[in-house]
Amino acid sequence: MSTHKTLNIALIGAGRIGSFHAESIARRIPNAKLIAVADPAPGAARRLADRLGCETAHTDPAALWRDPDVHAVLIATPARFHTPLAEAAAEAGKHVFCEKPMALTLAEADRVIAAARANGVQLQVGFNRRWDRAFADGRAAIDAGRIGTPQLLRSLTRDPGPWGGDPAKVPLWTIFYETLIHDFDTLLWLNPGARPVEVTAIADALVRPDAKAAGHIDTAVVTIRFDNGAIAVAEANFSALYGYDIRGEVFGSAGMVTMGDVRTSSLRVFDAQGVSASTFRMDTLHFPDAYTAQIQHFTDSVLQGRPHAGPGGADARAALAVALGCIASIQQNRAVRLSDVTQG
Ligand SMILES: NC(=O)c1ccc[n+]([C@@H]2O[C@H](COP(=O)([O-])OP(=O)(O)OC[C@H]3O[C@@H](n4cnc5c(N)ncnc54)[C@H](O)[C@@H]3O)[C@@H](O)[C@H]2O)c1
Repeated sequence: MSTHKTLNIALIGAGRIGSFHAESIARRIPNAKLIAVADPAPGAARRLADRLGCETAHTDPAALWRDPDVHAVLIATPARFHTPLAEAAAEAGKHVFCEKPMALTLAEADRVIAAARANGVQLQVGFNRRWDRAFADGRAAIDAGRIGTPQLLRSLTRDPGPWGGDPAKVPLWTIFYETLIHDFDTLLWLNPGARPVEVTAIADALVRPDAKAAGHIDTAVVTIRFDNGAIAVAEANFSALYGYDIRGEVFGSAGMVTMGDVRTSSLRVFDAQGVSASTFRMDTLHFPDAYTAQIQHFTDSVLQGRPHAGPGGADARAALAVALGCIASIQQNRAVRLSDVTQG
């Protein structure tokens, strides 16, 4: 049990998702306080801190390690910085909430897990889909045996379009490391007790075919075989013109659960044009409640001194292993045994 009634959280990375997390900490989570913001981009940390009534802004996250008032950090920087920051924070005795992907190699994942364990700090990862009501209820139905033994699983992520990114600025294999990593975590979590054993991936640049020659990938389909016999399919595309589309499905020996809806609510408008509904667009975050719920849970767990029940370092490592399997599958144009990936 912590002696604190409020968890002082410092945000690292004041970009798109970091700003939303900072707002959750400052305004939506009563027992958390936004105590500092760190971001090297000129003025970025100060602007966000000012907007949310937070006094301290740094351009160097290392300033946080020395601050005894910082109990925990939330890391929301670009992916390549996650491992060094999470490791340093843990070594400074700070609890860590890290956005996905926690690491880009298994050795990095092992370093973060070891640093958290050695320093007795909590390590939670931002696989927010698990905190969405439908996905959580789907997992509960599977646990209760309502669909029998999972046989076919499906998870998809179609980001809202039109995609306006610059392919040259998308790091190689982003579709696996950053997009489908959510689907891999979801599929592993929805098939409890089973291990993924083999993956096959195919991918292409269907949104920006002009960038394909430079290595750009914006569309992918992955199959995963599990050791309980179940077969899963994950798919992603960067540009769904009708809005953010995230869905999951588990078909079992006794039934099926489906999760996720492209609509922002159950509202349908019937008029002379037909039937329409509003969908999550670029400027409306999908699963806003789930984003907040995961940080509320992290806050409560740290304050109560009990291990969190959310996705942790081992889950981040397991999803990463599937992503690495996909990359190997594309490079070698064949199905890849995950034991080959995890044993180097
Ligand atoms: N869980 C989810 O659904 C979800 C959604 C969006 C983004 N993300 C993840 O969050 C991370 C950030 O994504 P984003 O879209 O907010 O990116 P972004 O580019 O909008 O923001 C990143 C911010 O980090 C800052 N930064 C860069 N290096 C830094 C460092 N060393 N220390 C501190 N700050 C640093 C940048 O200046 C920028 O302000 C990515 O890993 C992404 O995959 C997760």
